[in-house]
Amino acid sequence: MSSYTPSPVKRLTAPEIYARKGGTPLVSLTAYDAPMAEILDNHCDILLVGDSVGMVVHGLLNTLGVTMEMMILHGQAVMRGAKRAFVVVDMPFGSYEGDPEVAFDNAARLLKETGAQAVKVESGPTVARTIAYLTQRGIPVMGHIGLRPQAVNVDGGFRAKGRTPEEREKVLQEARDTDAAGAFAIVIEGVAADLAGEITAAVKAPTIGIGASAACDGQILVVDDMLGQFDWSPKFVRRYAALRETISEAAAAYAKDVKSRDFPAPQETYFAK
Ligand code: KIV
Repeated sequence: MSSYTPSPVKRLTAPEIYARKGGTPLVSLTAYDAPMAEILDNHCDILLVGDSVGMVVHGLLNTLGVTMEMMILHGQAVMRGAKRAFVVVDMPFGSYEGDPEVAFDNAARLLKETGAQAVKVESGPTVARTIAYLTQRGIPVMGHIGLRPQAVNVDGGFRAKGRTPEEREKVLQEARDTDAAGAFAIVIEGVAADLAGEITAAVKAPTIGIGASAACDGQILVVDDMLGQFDWSPKFVRRYAALRETISEAAAAYAKDVKSRDFPAPQETYFAK
């Protein structure tokens, strides 16, 4: 430890997030670039540099093609924009599921090269050992249970979880294992309200729901869904803006003005002195 403090930035911390269990709901959104992170920073406790970036920004069909390099690039951008929110970076598919030592190297690289404060892994019984390994070595880990987008090929699509008694028990066990391994927060995706409530009551870490009802300790949405940037969004998304229409209308107006030579006008033009 040293007394040298290089920057006045004061961010929320993992223990502060953990302490919010049962308190004022945690507000979280995804972010992938600096300007958006700067706008969201004042309103969010947690900004997640989600591997959803692969689909939302890069146009991939699912998150499996997302690489460490992509996560690092977007993580760096978000860290430049955010000054107070707690920033978490997703570990991409293939970077953490095997040997915990490899997971540690990749997680450490994500934190070193981005400056973010924690990583997220899609968790469950096989990943719990890795969560413990990372947290014991100084890396706060957020778990992610229920619908796990990186398991899309095993599941045969993006499907809500816990609808049969067996699956319900499986998701509960994922939650207990993730909690016992030391995760500071757990994202619950795509489960029914009663199961989300049961999980939230069963674990010490705050739960953050996405399509998992108001029973959780906080909520997260993919920012572009929430801003209405796509034609379609899942049932659990509430649209707070209609950016798709706004952007399309703006582009149409610009195209019209360019074609009619209305743009640029004199006030948008440089002239010799
Ligand atoms: O990648 C992501 O955006 C996520 C959220 C949906 C929680 O994991």
